[in-house]
Amino acid sequence: MPIDINSLVFSKLTDDSDVSTFSCSDSKDLEDFLRNDAKTGQHEKISTTYLVHSGTLLVGFFALSMGCIKSEHVKSMSLEIEDPPNNYPALLLARMATKDGLRSQGIGREMLKHVFAVAFKLTDQIGCRFVKVDAKKDERTIQFYKKNGGFVRITENDDTMQMVVDINKISDQE
Ligand SMILES: CC(C)(COP(=O)(O)OP(=O)(O)OC[C@H]1O[C@@H](n2cnc3c(N)ncnc32)[C@H](O)[C@@H]1OP(=O)(O)O)[C@@H](O)C(=O)NCCC(=O)NCCS
Repeated sequence: MPIDINSLVFSKLTDDSDVSTFSCSDSKDLEDFLRNDAKTGQHEKISTTYLVHSGTLLVGFFALSMGCIKSEHVKSMSLEIEDPPNNYPALLLARMATKDGLRSQGIGREMLKHVFAVAFKLTDQIGCRFVKVDAKKDERTIQFYKKNGGFVRITENDDTMQMVVDINKISDQE
């Protein structure tokens, strides 16, 4: 089903949001999170979830939390910081998915732009140097983050690759 990217509407999850139609069959944990845990996470101030609609159709979501990055993991990046802290403050993109059947139309890219907009707003109020994501270790997902914003790998484990983008570099690439 073709989606008009210019008509996407972003809103914060509320208790009244109907998320029952959202499906993500290749990442059931993401589907389960949205359907069962996102509202609780928001009440508990562990994560804030944003929904993306095209008309009445829920086409995607992402969840944000505060995060941090060990200084040693980004020391090869030219950050030009005089006295580096042990940890850098970061905005954590904790979860993100586009609904089944609607991928590769630019919805993910639009969601990332929204994440970056939140990051820019945050940096006006509090220190926040990076956006971080624990990307699924799947070549298409990793390419998606490299291509959109210029995320780079810092570490990885069996299932995920930790990727970051320096907020000071985002505006150069978007
Ligand atoms: C990653 C994801 C959010 C991107 O959303 P999207 O709306 O397809 O994003 P865009 O249309 O802006 O970009 C498409 C690119 O995403 C990447 N991609 C990653 N997984 C994909 C998938 N399952 N289907 C299609 N594209 C995928 C590809 O690089 C694709 O580029 P291509 O169309 O040239 O192959 C989406 O594919 C998704 O929900 N995947 C399953 C859940 C997931 O892996 N979430 C990320 C957890 S870290």
